[in-house]
Parts: sequence; C-alpha cells; structure tokens
Amino acid sequence: MPVQDQDARIAEQTRLVVERHATTEGPLLPILHEVQEEFGWLPPAALRTIAEGLNLGRAEVHGVATFYHDFRTEPAGRHRLKICRAEACQAMGGERIAERARAELGLDWHETAADGSVTLEPVYCLGLCACAPAAMVDDRLEGRLDADRFARILAEVRT
Ligand code: FES
Repeated sequence: MPVQDQDARIAEQTRLVVERHATTEGPLLPILHEVQEEFGWLPPAALRTIAEGLNLGRAEVHGVATFYHDFRTEPAGRHRLKICRAEACQAMGGERIAERARAELGLDWHETAADGSVTLEPVYCLGLCACAPAAMVDDRLEGRLDADRFARILAEVRT
C-alpha cells in the first residue's frame, strides 16, 4: 500500500478512537493505548491526528508517547522477548538471563534488532514467580529458564 494511503488509513482509524474519547476526562493516555493496541505502535500519522483531535501541540503528544516505556514510537520486531527483572526472578538467576539476552542479541532494553527479528523488553513480574526465572516470548510464558531452554528461546526469536 502506498505510504500516503497507509497514512490516510491510520489517520482515519485514529480519528475514530479520538472521537470516542474526546469528551472523557484526561483522554490522551487511553487514546494512545487504544491506538497502540490497534497498530502495534504509534505511527507518526496517528500522533498527528491525536494532536489535532485533542487540540494539543504535536510536541506535547510526542513527549507523552516517548515518556512512557509502554508506548512504542517505532514498530516492534517480529518477536517480542520480555525478560522478568522483578525480585523473585532476580533471586533465581534472572539477571544472568537478562545479561545473556542483551549480550547475545546485541540489544539494550526496548531496542529492536536491525533485521526486525526481535524487540527486547524488561518486564516487572509476569505472575510466574513460582517458576522463576521467567520470560515471555510473544504471547507465550516461559518459566524455570535454564541455560539450554534459554538458548532455544534466543534461537527462536532470531528468526
Ligand atoms: S518476579 Fe518474575 S514472574 Fe514474578
């Protein structure tokens, strides 16, 4: 799809989201969440439409979108690898897992591999503390990570 058509489609869908929230109090965050849910990230055309619809400056909307780590202003990779960095996982070797992920993928937190394969994200408790250390690969929870299982996960997310 040509870029202009794609931007027009994003703007139109975003306008509908803005309209639904326009009369509520503090609509910006819910709108950003819903738009991200829709597209998987916050494309520039969506941020422009939100700013116009709420009568806010573009810099203001962009500032909020980049302030919170939950929001993504770049498309995510084909896979998302979330490593739990909360207490129970840390106590069970989660930091080693986290460091290994960063080193072997060559990524820092919230970064996406240049080939678009994977985005690496920290997460603070996946509710799987009894099976620490834990991670999430796309929508799949993985507990009791040991070196071998984690090596398989790293191979999987590189595809
Ligand atoms: S602390 Fe890692 S899953 Fe709860």
